[in-house]
Amino acid sequence: MQIGEKIEYFSDVSEIFHSGDDHIIKVYHQNVPRKIPLRELHNMVAACVLNLPVPRPDQLFEVNGRTGLRMQYINGYTLLEIMGKDPSTIEAAGAEMADHHVRIHSKSGQGFPTYDLRYNAVLSEFADANPAEGGEIRDLFNSMPGGTALCHGDFHPANIMLDGSKSFVIDWLDANAGPIEADIARTLMIIDYGGGEKVDAQSRARLRGSYLSRYMDSCSAQPNDEHMKNWYKILVELQSYMKSVRSRDVTK
Ligand SMILES: Nc1ncnc2c1ncn2[C@@H]1O[C@H](COP(=O)(O)OP(=O)(O)O)[C@@H](O)[C@H]1O
Ligand SMILES: [Mg+2]
Repeated sequence: MQIGEKIEYFSDVSEIFHSGDDHIIKVYHQNVPRKIPLRELHNMVAACVLNLPVPRPDQLFEVNGRTGLRMQYINGYTLLEIMGKDPSTIEAAGAEMADHHVRIHSKSGQGFPTYDLRYNAVLSEFADANPAEGGEIRDLFNSMPGGTALCHGDFHPANIMLDGSKSFVIDWLDANAGPIEADIARTLMIIDYGGGEKVDAQSRARLRGSYLSRYMDSCSAQPNDEHMKNWYKILVELQSYMKSVRSRDVTK
């Protein structure tokens, strides 16, 4: 297996290396359970079968006790990098995100893990640690209607890559079958808070506006606004609880 130069990128889950001219390898850190790369490979294969624009997965292998996932190299930049270099592209990036998201949500999530698996453990932990707030969030979660659409699970501008005029959605680890409102709410939360103080409020507002209006204009199954607001509240509270106890749960 050819392992080439590292692609500079900070992550607490993996490192990315070139592998030949046409591939990269995502090498997961030693402490990451093997079910994580297995799940990512499974989700990528399933997304390819659905004809979604995903880097073609190649194979899993072991390197010094770590697992590597080899996949097609997308020779380009993420939407986050592109917007950072040229803020005039923010509106186009929001529209590009929405087009991908609508297409993903139009597919069935059958064969993907269900959305509740991702949250059950942390909801219980939060409710045990803080019965008032955590209990309220768990009750709100339990009151929300489920869903069976394909959801990406971590859909944001650093997980979309442009190669010339083609664009691809990467990072399928958290893909699930669930309610689209939860997936949209997560994207909105990341637009609103992701990246910390480096991102200014006006840029966030522009991206949110262009993403949401394009999504609403082009989606045939209109998302329920109240459900989206409830999901937003649930996800913000869970995120802030998780941040208070650990930087990121890599065992999920
Ligand atoms: N198939 C790919 N081709 C080229 N670069 C990639 C590819 N997959 C990931 N990368 C690069 O690695 C970074 C992290 O990859 P990602 O799968 O999103 O990992 P993480 O789970 O750590 O967010 C991306 O932002 C991108 O810069
Ligand atoms: Mg990513």
